[in-house]
Amino acid sequence: MPRIRTGLADKLGLRYPIVCAPMFIISNKEMIVAAAEAGILGTMPSLNLRTREEFRAALEWIRSKTDKPFGINLTIKLTDPERLASDLETCIDLKVPVIITSYGNPSEIARRAHDQGMTVFHDVIHLKHALKAQESGADAIIGVTAGAGGHAGTTSPFVLVPYLRENLRVPVIAAGCIATGKQMAASLALGAELVYMGTRFIASTECGADQAYKEAVVNGSPEDIVYTDAVSGVHANFLRDTVPGLATESREAAQKAVQSGGAKKWKEIWSAGQGIALAKDIKPVGAIVEDIVREYVDAVRGLPALEP
Ligand SMILES: Cc1cc2nc3c(=O)[nH]c(=O)nc-3n(C[C@H](O)[C@H](O)[C@H](O)COP(=O)(O)O)c2cc1C
Repeated sequence: MPRIRTGLADKLGLRYPIVCAPMFIISNKEMIVAAAEAGILGTMPSLNLRTREEFRAALEWIRSKTDKPFGINLTIKLTDPERLASDLETCIDLKVPVIITSYGNPSEIARRAHDQGMTVFHDVIHLKHALKAQESGADAIIGVTAGAGGHAGTTSPFVLVPYLRENLRVPVIAAGCIATGKQMAASLALGAELVYMGTRFIASTECGADQAYKEAVVNGSPEDIVYTDAVSGVHANFLRDTVPGLATESREAAQKAVQSGGAKKWKEIWSAGQGIALAKDIKPVGAIVEDIVREYVDAVRGLPALEP
């Protein structure tokens, strides 16, 4: 397969401009190593390890399995400040190449990370926050569009990606509903330097999601996804049937059911994006990457010829 080069992929030493995006609870060290060996950037939230000791042990395990780049997601406001500081030190100690910040101001983390030559990505749903993050030192901005898994925006990728590209100095990473090589080709045409894919990798063999969750992703259609703030107070996309009260009743009923503790958020209420429509099978991370690259090549070759 040919290497697919962009400025940011080259800077990070990636063969393909793809990030296996961090997913609370279900991303793991096995996905990171598989992604690294497949030539893309694997990532996970530090909080997917219960304690700071387990987090360090997971990073040491990754380091023992691969010398290729990978990333760690630090969820600023969702993490206890002491744990956040400790996880950042661990990342610095073990020379994690990429830190992905979300849910907060990345400036302090960016300053520390830059001292160590690390790269910082920050995710946003609006230009306003992207400009702030750029000023705070983010080296690349992840634009999370409508339909994305997890907390998602409402702007179409056809607008958000080129709009960020036109208004930022730093590279843009496209996130939201990307599950195929065709969509990667479209994202790069819109100005992205990497694509950031979560939902497609839920349906990977290595992912820590339940088998039934993986099957719901490969069997689902966009109509099975609901965009609601009833679960966490922030709008995110979920598989509708897993949100208590929502399949049959109203948002208020769902909020009540979630608050009464009927289901554990993110563990039993499954998040996924509209990209489930295009995720067709459960297979190893490496095989998913091969599919995406093959589809990308076919898509680029299949574009209408230019008449002289
Ligand atoms: C189950 C799930 C959990 C997620 N957890 C996180 C998280 O902990 N931190 C974060 O920054 N993004 C999180 N995200 C968002 C992803 O990193 C990424 O932005 C998103 O999956 C991209 O859209 P896609 O799922 O349509 O590919 C999560 C997404 C999913 C589907």
